[in-house]
Amino acid sequence: MSELDSLAGNALLASITRMALRVLSVKLSTPTLRVAAIGDLSPLSRVAEILTSDSQFPVQLKYFGAESSQYVKSYAEFSPQAFDCVLVIAEDLNAENRLLGQVGLADKTSPQIVRWQKYLRGALGALQIPGPLPTCLNYEKLFALSAALFFAPSSGPVLECGVFQGGTTVFLARLQRELGLSREILAFDTFQGLPAPVKQDFEVPGETYPAGFFGETSLDGVLKLYEQHTVRQDIRVCQGLVGDTLPLALQGKACSFALLDMDQYMGTHQALEIILRNCQSGTLIIVDDTSISGVNRAIEEACAIRPLVRRLITGNFDLLAIT
Ligand SMILES: C[S@@+](CC[C@H](N)C(=O)[O-])C[C@H]1O[C@@H](n2cnc3c(N)ncnc32)[C@H](O)[C@@H]1O
Repeated sequence: MSELDSLAGNALLASITRMALRVLSVKLSTPTLRVAAIGDLSPLSRVAEILTSDSQFPVQLKYFGAESSQYVKSYAEFSPQAFDCVLVIAEDLNAENRLLGQVGLADKTSPQIVRWQKYLRGALGALQIPGPLPTCLNYEKLFALSAALFFAPSSGPVLECGVFQGGTTVFLARLQRELGLSREILAFDTFQGLPAPVKQDFEVPGETYPAGFFGETSLDGVLKLYEQHTVRQDIRVCQGLVGDTLPLALQGKACSFALLDMDQYMGTHQALEIILRNCQSGTLIIVDDTSISGVNRAIEEACAIRPLVRRLITGNFDLLAIT
């Protein structure tokens, strides 16, 4: 491997791992995430500085290994109460389970256990897509989705509200398969572009998209894309305004995860209202384009009704967690 390849590999590793720790900080609602790393520490130690220098999401990282040294403590010194999460670093599930047994965490649910290789493989595997993917999201945002899907409850629907050309739904479906999860994926759009903006969208001049914007899509085109990527059977598509289609599609089921990407007040407001009536402890919601004032206003209103943990996790991507 060339030096550049390994630098790029480390940057990717750091970026994907950092996003997991950010999502966990929000999910666990903790100001400083206390992380214990156990197992083969070498890949993690190459990116540790990047992880522990995340000023917005402080991380305290301690190492535990088979052989103790100046930096590494022995497994016998591990104390579960001192940590919010444990990164388990081993090649396969059996090795991970052995490690968890060694630190007394077999069958324990607290602290949060992160099977690091599984998470990394899922996030990277989902990106191995032939050809360009028509998604509006950059890599950082896709990694945030990877982390949120990994840490969201393992049952209940996964929603994408605002699908446009469908590339992000393909990523979500592939990610689920890579992670060995089979939660139902529900995809919502008018497939005719944005509806007419309402007065809340005009509060800040110059940032309101007109009706019909994002109209370069069609239900047929999106279904074809899902078929082309062999994920058609994993996704239920609901055409229409989200305020009408979402309650019918959910039928009272508690959501696991939702991506809200509608760029306007009304769709975001209605989706949040419906999801908050159909959620569970640990439901995670990501909202894109929160720098748009109408979108931000819809989130603020939702947070005023129900206490939610809200943090900006990258760019203009906010994570909301239901505690
Ligand atoms: C920015 S695009 C979505 C991008 C997509 N999530 C991605 O990552 O590629 C916004 C989409 O939201 C849809 N949309 C906006 N408001 C809506 C509403 N109230 N109901 C249904 N779809 C809506 C639009 O039709 C448009 O396709």
